[in-house]
Amino acid sequence: MEGPAAPSATLPLDDAAATALERALARWGREPVRLLQVLREVQEALGWLPPPALTAVSRALGVPLAQVRGVVAFYSFLHAEPRGEYRLLFSDDVPDRMAGSGQRLAEMCERLWLEPGKLSEDGLVSVERTPALGLCDQAPALLVNGRPVTRLTAARAGQVCELVLARVPLEAWPADLFEVEDHVRRRDVLLGDDTRPGEALDAAFARGDAAGLGPQSLLDEIKAARLLGRGGAGFTTGVKWESCSRQPVTPRVVVCNADEGEPGTFKDRLLLRRHFDLVVEGMTLAAWAIGATLGFVYLRGEYRWLLDSLEATLARRREAGLLGRSIRGRPGFDFDIEIHVGAGSYVCGEASALVESLEGKRGIPRNRPPRLAEVGYRGLPTIVNNVESYCAAALIARHGADWFKSRGTARSSGTKLLSVSGDCARPGIYEYPFGVAVREVLADCGGEGAIAVQAGGPSGACLGQDEFGRRVAFEDIETGGALVVFGPERDMFEVARHYAHFFAEESCGFCTPCRVGTSLLKTLVDKVAEGKGTPRDLAEIERLGGVLRTASHCGLGESAPRPLIDTLRRFRPAWERRLGSSSMEPSFDLDGALARARRMTGRDDEGAHLPP
Ligand SMILES: Cc1cc2nc3c(=O)[nH]c(=O)nc-3n(C[C@H](O)[C@H](O)[C@H](O)COP(=O)(O)O)c2cc1C
Ligand code: SF4
Repeated sequence: MEGPAAPSATLPLDDAAATALERALARWGREPVRLLQVLREVQEALGWLPPPALTAVSRALGVPLAQVRGVVAFYSFLHAEPRGEYRLLFSDDVPDRMAGSGQRLAEMCERLWLEPGKLSEDGLVSVERTPALGLCDQAPALLVNGRPVTRLTAARAGQVCELVLARVPLEAWPADLFEVEDHVRRRDVLLGDDTRPGEALDAAFARGDAAGLGPQSLLDEIKAARLLGRGGAGFTTGVKWESCSRQPVTPRVVVCNADEGEPGTFKDRLLLRRHFDLVVEGMTLAAWAIGATLGFVYLRGEYRWLLDSLEATLARRREAGLLGRSIRGRPGFDFDIEIHVGAGSYVCGEASALVESLEGKRGIPRNRPPRLAEVGYRGLPTIVNNVESYCAAALIARHGADWFKSRGTARSSGTKLLSVSGDCARPGIYEYPFGVAVREVLADCGGEGAIAVQAGGPSGACLGQDEFGRRVAFEDIETGGALVVFGPERDMFEVARHYAHFFAEESCGFCTPCRVGTSLLKTLVDKVAEGKGTPRDLAEIERLGGVLRTASHCGLGESAPRPLIDTLRRFRPAWERRLGSSSMEPSFDLDGALARARRMTGRDDEGAHLPP
């Protein structure tokens, strides 16, 4: 089914597009770094980005049209083709599939008379998939025009179809369709926190004033607490902040990485939704520590539905003197925060790609050095930290390093939020002191029968039963927090295949090892799935995996082979039972390709054929 013909780039803007552009420019201004936000807001008003709108944006911001088109093509949530009045976006994460999202998608497409990825003939509805919506604890999930619908049973899916077909405006849909549970299953110091807005700031100021050290006292406290970043890589937060604070260039910049794109992760959703004051308190403390005036929250596009409440918290804090000029009455301490909404790109969670995206560009990871702490957003010294890291920093500022270190292990202090989903009775968010064994988490979430746990999303480790005694800690299992539980009926080969497709799709294409390597890995895994694989293909996957790990430009390419290598090692029978032949079977029929040569030479004897 084709949609309406796209208007040409040279046509004048219609009234709706002109108004949308004026509004976006009034809000964001005309600097080229505002490109992504302007495009996003124009699209929010029009449903897509018609060619004349791209031309008008290019002129208004002084950005070449080719660059505007490049940005639109890079982000999966920006559309240069028409989409439906109702845009259904299915979460295609592993827990969604396990909960039946494929079946729901097929049923809904049949009811709505369209194919996935297409627009209905009347322009009413379009249906697409996206890798992860951050709602795995209430899968299957989808977004309708950006609003989440969770626990998609057949009945709820049918209800959505009826509402769409009856053209009922979203505001009139039953509220229970849009309910998102918090699913907090275990609280420790962070989720049980009762810090009042400003309290951690006051504690940090008092400590700094008493010691006569000012912001250095906070840097010392964060270092003494041995806070390691909660985004997955575990970099020492105090060292990052101190290095940024020593740069000669000002102003400096504080960025909160709320991209939460790792499939299986959703704990930042809770922190943004219920503990955003603490996140902002942590960012404001960071600003005091490093001497920053500018702050950004990079909110993933999938969490656009949280934007209004986040903006309201920022407004409240400005009114209370906790953001803006002379914060808490301290002359010279000026700091404010803007929220930038992403547009559907996993690689933009990588800190340098995120900064590129903040600058309105495609999210291509930067070459390092220089590090972001030296040359970050618009060339300014910049720190990027995870949402949970800022919360932990606020707790340290309020309670002190010794209190913080009293939880966790010697190398991994404090607590960790885990996003638990998959085959377990109680999916949700669990906070534990570092050092908790995977087995204990499985017992708490009702996942005792598990055969495997994917810890840290596809970039993390796939653990077999013999490893359930291992511990969540930077010295053992490093994880940003996702734990997907797999029961005995799950096929770990299919899980690995899904992740191979995910990485091939999300590779930004900048460097050859990852661009070509992820695509080759996907092809090889598909070959095995079709029953045409051989042991040589498995060896080739391992060899290619080594190339990606060592030669890729960023962490995405480095970790792309991991689910394949891990499952090959721990669940080899799941791979081997699919092999078509125990010897080499080329995916290309070489002997068949010589048939024309045989005809031309008039030979068809045994010597004119390759040996079988
Ligand atoms: C492909 C890729 C995606 C990433 N996605 C995220 C993310 O969604 N959230 C996050 O905090 N860190 C993410 N990271 C890690 C960031 O690059 C960075 O290390 C982190 O934001 C630093 O914060 P922290 O020190 O507080 O952990 C990602 C890294 C890579 C390579
Ligand atoms: S490793 Fe992949 S995602 Fe990273 S820069 Fe290279 S192509 Fe892009």
